[in-house]
Amino acid sequence: MSVEYSKQARSSAANPLDAGSFPLSPIVAGAWRMAEWGWTPQQRLRWIEQAVELGVTSFDHADIYGNYGVEELFGDALALRPALRNQLQLVDKCGIKLVSQRRPAHRIKSYDTSREHIVASVEASLRALRTDRLDLLLIHRPDALMDAAEVADTFATLKQQGKVLRFGVSNFMPWQFELLDAAMSAHGEHLTTNQIELHPLQVQPLHDGTLDQAQRLALRPMIWSPLAGGRLMAPSPTDEAARRVHEVLRHLAEAHHVTATTIAIAWLLRHPARPVPITGSRRIDTLRDAVAALGVSLDRESWYALWQAGRGHEVP
Ligand SMILES: NC(=O)c1ccc[n+]([C@@H]2O[C@H](COP(=O)([O-])OP(=O)(O)OC[C@H]3O[C@@H](n4cnc5c(N)ncnc54)[C@H](OP(=O)(O)O)[C@@H]3O)[C@@H](O)[C@H]2O)c1
Repeated sequence: MSVEYSKQARSSAANPLDAGSFPLSPIVAGAWRMAEWGWTPQQRLRWIEQAVELGVTSFDHADIYGNYGVEELFGDALALRPALRNQLQLVDKCGIKLVSQRRPAHRIKSYDTSREHIVASVEASLRALRTDRLDLLLIHRPDALMDAAEVADTFATLKQQGKVLRFGVSNFMPWQFELLDAAMSAHGEHLTTNQIELHPLQVQPLHDGTLDQAQRLALRPMIWSPLAGGRLMAPSPTDEAARRVHEVLRHLAEAHHVTATTIAIAWLLRHPARPVPITGSRRIDTLRDAVAALGVSLDRESWYALWQAGRGHEVP
């Protein structure tokens, strides 16, 4: 797809994440690790409620999280207070097949973006989450065998049925994004977001065109592992790069009178593509620190100091 196509096709289409019709909260809570928390349904409900009280109303899922178990843990909690559903936005993913006792037909780990798999996955997610709709469905990883026309057609059907309201991708390179987006335009639809990994130890999307594309299309990228899975906050003694970043985070946190977590999230929010970070912590305090980042603006040198700490050298 040419740049020209994108300009024309996109110019008339407002970005759904910016529109009042479908706002994700500016900070999203990730459910990936929920199975590790060992909580009761009441504790999980309390966690969801406390997040909502902070303004974190969007929750990130995938069919495979917790060995295909997290959606059900979340759904069981939601069943204690079903009316809460209407205050939430549920983001979900499909397309990865894990070898699991819960999926005995899978013989090897593989990717599957066939119509059959996407539909079966969405049906299973809706049942487990105890909801009638997903607010946003993402293809979890690029599938080398992806037939873009088939995926776009499947998405259009799911939307017509009211089972999925919006669509996006995760871990896609710009040209993979454009392939599927172009196929969706035939149905009058567009991809909403690309969910990617970004933090000072993973700066590739800043330099490989991913965030340039997001900015050009006014897409707000969702950011996974914003604290590098905890590496930035509790670096091991041998993790030199994480220790360097942690030191700069602490220094900036002192200067801004906030926590290091707040600075790490503020570093992401500083990007003009207006990223939407997904926290992964079980602790409500961490969510509170992430929300606090919405009120912190890092100056350019502070931003580059973290870039430099992550890379281990100054900019060229
Ligand atoms: N699309 C994809 O391919 C993809 C891949 C991975 C993740 N995701 C999504 O992104 C979400 C976030 O990812 P993530 O969990 O890696 O995010 P993260 O926020 O970078 O890491 C969360 C981890 O860091 C720990 N942590 C946070 N603050 C800490 C501190 N001060 N000291 C020590 N440990 C600390 C947390 O432990 P505590 O719970 O104890 O705070 C938790 O284990 C996931 O839930 C999932 O929804 C998507």
